[in-house]
Amino acid sequence: MLPPIELFKERFGNARFVLAPMAGITDTVFRLLMRKMGSQIVISELLSAEGLVRGGERTRQMLRFDERERPVGIQIFGSSIETMNQAAKIVQEEGADFVDINFGCPVKKVVCDGSGSAWLKNPNKMGELLTTLKSNLRIPLTIKVRTGWDETSRNVKEVVKVAADCGVSWVAIHGRTRAQGYSGLADWELIREVAISSSIPIIGNGDIITSTQAKKRIDDGYSHGVMIGRGALKNPWIFQEILGSSSVDYNFTDLISEHFDLAIEKKDRDRAFLSLKKFMGWYASGFPYSSAFRGKIFQTHDVDELKKLAIEFFSSCNFQKPVDDGQPFLMGGHG
Ligand SMILES: Cc1cc2nc3c(=O)[nH]c(=O)nc-3n(C[C@H](O)[C@H](O)[C@H](O)COP(=O)(O)O)c2cc1C
Repeated sequence: MLPPIELFKERFGNARFVLAPMAGITDTVFRLLMRKMGSQIVISELLSAEGLVRGGERTRQMLRFDERERPVGIQIFGSSIETMNQAAKIVQEEGADFVDINFGCPVKKVVCDGSGSAWLKNPNKMGELLTTLKSNLRIPLTIKVRTGWDETSRNVKEVVKVAADCGVSWVAIHGRTRAQGYSGLADWELIREVAISSSIPIIGNGDIITSTQAKKRIDDGYSHGVMIGRGALKNPWIFQEILGSSSVDYNFTDLISEHFDLAIEKKDRDRAFLSLKKFMGWYASGFPYSSAFRGKIFQTHDVDELKKLAIEFFSSCNFQKPVDDGQPFLMGGHG
């Protein structure tokens, strides 16, 4: 077994299990919910460095977090060293625990501009960026990458070496190349190879949908920590299960009530409604009659009606532990 992530040890203890950053999903509401439910570290969705520097209201809003989320990282993306540097300083001023850089986003619009996974094609320039960031930050710097640009250039080992030399605190590796998008499976053998030889912690990521899988990756020495994205939407209790809570209560009524309360506390009612509709659809995936349920909720017009329908639906599932139906789920994203 590789040692745990010690970065926030003094304040929060050793950590291994991290909620993956997901655009449109890991906003302050879901991060808070997942922290309450056992995720040891959370990271924001990707924020545009340019948007932050320009002071765009929406990006600024996305920067906010709740004290109860700590340790919380803010992820930024961009292509200009100068702009990224300014954005990282804004994140630091906001009081985040760490800055995370997105070097994994495969989306065309993002890579065309030289952002996201496009950085993987130029480790020297990446080193320049990381050195600049490190020399201006007091808080830790972390990065999230893919295994390479494509099959012929899987340079994650080199990238990790660059990151370690620049003083980066950990590298999270989504075990696919940029060219793979979300197809195929994450290459955990490569993650293990990199983790074993790395001088800084490696957080393995990709395709973990059960607590057993997550624990096994750690027990079998694949990485220092694991990062879980889609699996936490399919089974919001996954972190509690991993941490071995003896009495995991798969009570959707409680979960939904908490999620609604937090969303209404943190967002205006319209935005809360739109966001909750999406989450209810995701939570339902894998349950019988979920597509009929999704059809119904997309015709609802307000939060109260949505909550009533959701509680009715999940009550009829007898609060059973969600099962994985093996269906493709959210096969696209920014990392
Ligand atoms: C809808 C969606 C949005 C995502 N947004 C981000 C993001 O903003 N930043 C990032 O680094 N990765 C992002 N990702 C990638 C995830 O962090 C993770 O690397 C990927 O989903 C594989 O892990 P999983 O199989 O546990 O979901 C996103 C993934 C999805 C599905």
